[in-house]
Amino acid sequence: MSITLTSAADGQNLIIEPEQVALKGKIRVPGDKSISHRALILGSISKGQTTIEGLLLGEDPLSTASCFEAMGVKISPLNSDKVVVEGIGLENLQEPQDVLNAGNSGTTMRLILGILAAQKGKFFTITGDSSLRSRPMSRVIRPLEQMGAAIWARKNNTLAPLAIKGSQLQPLEYHSPIASAQVKSCLLLAGLGIEGRTTVIEPALSRDHSERMLEAFGAKIETDPTDNRATVIGPASLVGQRVVVPGDISSAAFWLVAASIVEGSELLIENVGINPTRTGILEILQLMGADLSLENERIVTGEPVADILVKFSKLKGCEISGAIIPRLIDEIPILAVAAVFAQGITVIKDAAELRVKESDRLAVIARELTKMGAKITELPDGLEITGTSSLVGTTVESCNDHRIAMSLAIASLAAQKTTTIKGVEAATISYPNFVATLQSVCGMEE
Ligand code: S3P
Repeated sequence: MSITLTSAADGQNLIIEPEQVALKGKIRVPGDKSISHRALILGSISKGQTTIEGLLLGEDPLSTASCFEAMGVKISPLNSDKVVVEGIGLENLQEPQDVLNAGNSGTTMRLILGILAAQKGKFFTITGDSSLRSRPMSRVIRPLEQMGAAIWARKNNTLAPLAIKGSQLQPLEYHSPIASAQVKSCLLLAGLGIEGRTTVIEPALSRDHSERMLEAFGAKIETDPTDNRATVIGPASLVGQRVVVPGDISSAAFWLVAASIVEGSELLIENVGINPTRTGILEILQLMGADLSLENERIVTGEPVADILVKFSKLKGCEISGAIIPRLIDEIPILAVAAVFAQGITVIKDAAELRVKESDRLAVIARELTKMGAKITELPDGLEITGTSSLVGTTVESCNDHRIAMSLAIASLAAQKTTTIKGVEAATISYPNFVATLQSVCGMEE
């Protein structure tokens, strides 16, 4: 096995020469991206100190931190084990002197928008990288406008950059056409400072980290699972808390699949968040025949956590559709890799949302895995994958999408011949030390 990182003119290439060595070891994955964003956001708009242990130091949460620093929040150096956010309170955010930059992060832009829209009399502009500037913002702009927000955007008020004039908002009961935690969280944050009930009802339940953390910070939150409803009863005054961020199950997913498809593998992934709104990946892998077991289950600052033991196992295809989709939305590229190595057909449906992520993930994962010999048909809202036990390495592209870069790296471990993944540096968005961990589980020196 050889895993080498090289520099290219337009980024970094990862060159993997597989040897089917079993993956072994005990590893930890970086902090949960969704929880990291929310800890920085709620810490900033609370009164008093918030301490964050295990914060993800990926580019996305760093974008969130820099936006709040630009609005007057003091955040201690982000490379320390315990990050301290000196919360200034919702009403004391300052009008930034320059354009806020959300980088590649949809969560940063959509969640912050709910806060900015309610900052009466203050003016904000926010932009992002070319991927984020092509992702739909109308899903948050429209309901915020129903609450009375004043927002201007490109392309008929749908795309960033955005300009926002903070105004007095009204509470809203919003029936969201999509299951999206970013939409839900944006509106709950918008409802924080206003009198009354702001409610979001979703077609299927999306991740509930905002509801959990808002409650822990002192907001009055009501949820009703019978119709996937979440309500904030404002006005809320939030107080800083201690947050311990668990490992990200979306990052653990790469190792769960890697160990499942490389013969003889056994990995223990410690300290993984297993919030039930995120564990679709575990249920689907188990349905496919994966050998997974949860150990040492516990609750850490309001979120369930466990260690996950995974061993190689022969996988079989299955159908992935319906209400489970939001519970594994970010894991579909790596599940596509699992399906390629499974016996039989895997059909993924109801996942059109993947077309508006950091890349069009349905098109990109289908195209790049097909280059390696996979049999994949793209559907309007999913993929149909016929298992084949042999892929052949070639040159593939991350398309600047972190989850695509890492999914292709895992696929190449079980392929024949050398794979070159172009643009692998995208992985740092959510997993800064991915390549080092890959080398270590493959028995190479870090
Ligand atoms: C996220 C929600 C999901 C997910 C994203 C993070 C969040 O997006 O894909 O990576 O932290 O709220 P949607 O809510 O748009 O589905």
